[in-house]
Amino acid sequence: MATFNLLLLPGDGIGVETMAEVERVIAFLNKNSNKAKFACQSDLVGGAAYDKHGVAITDEAMAKAMKSDAVIFGAVGGPKWAGVPYAVRPEAGLLRLRKDMGLFANLRPAICYPALADASSLKRELVEGLDIMIVRELTGGVYFGEPKEIVTLENGEKRAIDTQLYTTHEIERIAKVAFDLARKRGNKVHSAEKHNVMRTGVLWKEVVTQVHKSYAPDVTLEHILADNCAMQLVRQPKQFDVIVTDNLFGDVLSDEAAMATGSLGMLPSASLGAPDPKTGKRLALYEPVHGSAPDIAGKGLANPIATIASFGMALRYSFDMGKEADMLDGAIAAVLAKGLRTGDIMQAGMQKVGTSEMGKAIVDELQKLVA
Ligand code: IPM
Ligand code: MG
Repeated sequence: MATFNLLLLPGDGIGVETMAEVERVIAFLNKNSNKAKFACQSDLVGGAAYDKHGVAITDEAMAKAMKSDAVIFGAVGGPKWAGVPYAVRPEAGLLRLRKDMGLFANLRPAICYPALADASSLKRELVEGLDIMIVRELTGGVYFGEPKEIVTLENGEKRAIDTQLYTTHEIERIAKVAFDLARKRGNKVHSAEKHNVMRTGVLWKEVVTQVHKSYAPDVTLEHILADNCAMQLVRQPKQFDVIVTDNLFGDVLSDEAAMATGSLGMLPSASLGAPDPKTGKRLALYEPVHGSAPDIAGKGLANPIATIASFGMALRYSFDMGKEADMLDGAIAAVLAKGLRTGDIMQAGMQKVGTSEMGKAIVDELQKLVA
């Protein structure tokens, strides 16, 4: 039996509470699976790391992440750290993990569970059966481009600069990820950029077109301007299968797509590196799309589904445990179908539950599925 090493980084706010529910799921699998065991280590990231060590993530925690088979990440940030220096703000911990681990491919599925079709702010018929995969480039673009600074000009005015920057190979490799995924789904890719305003958009479109021609002519490719994509996502979301886009547009479009599913609390994500040429193994980090939700943190109210489903993506993409991942998704769907709801997805006539009740209910369903 394989043993996989997980690094759990709960971080701040509701990350701590939702990670506890992932641990419940892991404990269940460790007891019941004859396929793999999970050995867990934990460490600090974000504001929690800053409070103890003065940095958003320590070199030791980074070393553990590099050695792990997968990192499961909670959330970072909160008003408590609003005044800390920019370089050590909580988000810097997450960005360092992404950059140093080379996690260029961020997969953000937006799936509408049948039971939640009425929880969306869009009409039921628009979101029922929705299944989109947003593929966000995660280690380039304006998040990391240099120069990135605020300078004081001679006249005393300040000038802030961020740099949007992409090279051919960065676009090629993310486009290939999108085409590969599309082949296993609806075989359609929308590539979103702003070639009408941005040079990076011109190159993006050119390279994606080239990759399509040489690598994936069997997949349908459509180019779409990122602002139009944002509009189409609320107008007719089911027209999309896979959307591939840059780091910043991907950040925005994935929040928007998440909301179509009913709640930001529902959306998991996977961030993957390139396969190791020798072993084929990828470094990987799995995290919910939502943030640390300081307003409800520590109250046991948070929805743990996105973090649990992120662990489900780890089963699928890092551990080749697709069957177990399907079971976990099935357990989540069953709990929702039974009417259990955390506050963020609460609807009239449903049963309101807290974080750990939701986690327990999911494990109870898993128990039924293995029995
Ligand atoms: C996300 C988040 C992060 C991002 C923040 C926390 C740095 O919004 O993962 O979408 O902007 O990428
Ligand atoms: Mg975001």
